[in-house]
Amino acid sequence: MDWKKIYNEKLTTADEAVKLIKSGNRVVTGLGAGESPVLIDAMMKNHKAYKGVEIVNILSLVKTEYLDPAIDEHLHYNALFVSAKSRHAVNEGYADYTPSFFYRMPQMWEKDLLVDVAVIQVSAPDRHGFCSYGISVDYIKHAAEKAPIVLAHVNKSMPRALGDAFIHVSHMTCIVEADVPLLAPPPPAPNEAELAIGKHCASLINDGDCLQLGFGTIPDAVLAFLKDHKDLGIHTEMFSDGVVDLVHAGVITCARKNLNPGKIIATFLLGSQKLYDFVDDNPMVAMHPVTYTNDPYIAGQNDNLVTINSCIQVDLLGQVASETIGMTQFSGVGGQVDFVRASAISKGGRAILTMPSTTKSDTISKIVPFLDEGAVVTTSRCDVHLIVTEYGIADLRNKTCKDRARTLIRIAHPKFRGELTAAFKQRFNCEF
Ligand code: COA
Repeated sequence: MDWKKIYNEKLTTADEAVKLIKSGNRVVTGLGAGESPVLIDAMMKNHKAYKGVEIVNILSLVKTEYLDPAIDEHLHYNALFVSAKSRHAVNEGYADYTPSFFYRMPQMWEKDLLVDVAVIQVSAPDRHGFCSYGISVDYIKHAAEKAPIVLAHVNKSMPRALGDAFIHVSHMTCIVEADVPLLAPPPPAPNEAELAIGKHCASLINDGDCLQLGFGTIPDAVLAFLKDHKDLGIHTEMFSDGVVDLVHAGVITCARKNLNPGKIIATFLLGSQKLYDFVDDNPMVAMHPVTYTNDPYIAGQNDNLVTINSCIQVDLLGQVASETIGMTQFSGVGGQVDFVRASAISKGGRAILTMPSTTKSDTISKIVPFLDEGAVVTTSRCDVHLIVTEYGIADLRNKTCKDRARTLIRIAHPKFRGELTAAFKQRFNCEF
C-alpha cells in the first residue's frame, strides 16, 4: 500500500472537509488542546448549512464559538464535562451536559450517542503512514474507529506521542494540513492554602508509589513537595508540567511500577510547550485510550496507587460534591470516580480528595452538615477515603458515620468548627 499516494488523494481544505458534515449528524471532537481549531473555524463558517448538528466533547477550551445561543439550531453543544468556557451555556440551558464516568465515554459511540463524524487533530504521518493522536487519545481514538466519516487535521505541532495512540492515513476520510501552535496554558501558581494541601498530600506518598494527578494548582502543589522522593511512578488520566520537572530531577522513574514498569501512562495532556516537547517521540510516555488508563480494574492493578483529585463540598457523612455548586453545574465527573475506585482495588492504594476548607474569603465552609440544595454526589460515602484541607487529613474509610463527621470537623476551618459541632450533636443526638 502506497500510503503517500492515499494521503495526497485525501488532502483537501478545511472549508471542503466540513461540507461532509450533514444536518442531524453527531460530531465528536477532541479534548481541550486536542480539538482542531482549524476544522471548528471552518464549521463555524459553514454553520448556516447545518440544521441540528450536535457537537460532543469533554472539554471545550480552544474554540467556543459553537456555544453561541444564536446558532443553537445549527450547532448544538453536548458537554461531557463543563469547563469555565461552557459553564454559562450549560447552566442557561442552551447547551447540554451528559454525566458519565470518563472511562465509559467511548462506549457511548457504540450505543446511545452514535457518532457520525469524528473531527481529529493528529501529528504528521511517520514513514509508515501512521499519525499520532498526541496529547488527546482519550475517547477520540474510539470515536474515529467508530465514525463513518473522519475529518483529520494534520498539525506538525502535534507531538508524536507513543503508545496505543495511532491512526493510519487510510482510515481518514479527508485530510487538512495546517501548522498551528497547540494551546499551551502556563502552569497555575498555588496559593498558601493550596501549598499547605500539597504538603499534606505529599506526606501520604511513599517512595515507589504510583500516582494519578488531576489538573490544576493542587496537583502541581503536591509535586512541589515530592522533590526528595524516589522512584515514583505515574498511571494517570492527564499530566502537566510538574511531572516533567520531576522526571528531569530523577524523582519520577516509574522503575518500581508493577504494571508498565518504566512507563508513564496517560490519556491526555494539557500544559506548556515544555510538556509537549517532552512527550514527542519519548519512549518513557505511553498514551492510551481512556478505556485503558481510567478503567478501575486496569488502573487498580498498579500497586500503591495514590490518586489525587479535587472537590467542591463534603458533608459530615463524607458525601462528596465535585461538580456542582448547589444547582449550578460547575464542572463534571471526569475521571474522579474512576480513580477513587481504582485506588480502592490497588494493593496499598490511597484515594485523596482535596479542597481548601473555605471559599469566598473564608465566608463559606466547604465542609457542611448537608450538601447544598441541588448539589449532586460525585464520590459516594462508600467510595470516599482521604479528604485533605489545609488543616490536615481526614481518613474516612471504614469509619462510623459519627467518627467520619468528627474527623472531618477537625480539618474544617477553625471559624466553622463550632457550628459544625452543633450540627453534629443535633444529627447524631450525642456529644462530640
Ligand atoms: N460554595 C460556593 N462556591 C464554591 C464552593 C462552595 N462550596 N466551592 C468552590 N466554590 C467556588 C469558588 O469560590 C471559586 O469561585 P471563583 O471562581 O468565583 O473564585 C470556584 O468555585 C472554583 O473553586 P476552586 O476551589 O478554585 O475550584 P478549582 O478550579 O480548583 O476546581 C473542582 C475544583 C472540584 C471543580 C475540579 O477539581 C473538578 O472539576 N473536579 C471534578 C473532576 C475531577 O476530579 N477530575 C479529575 C481528573 S482531571
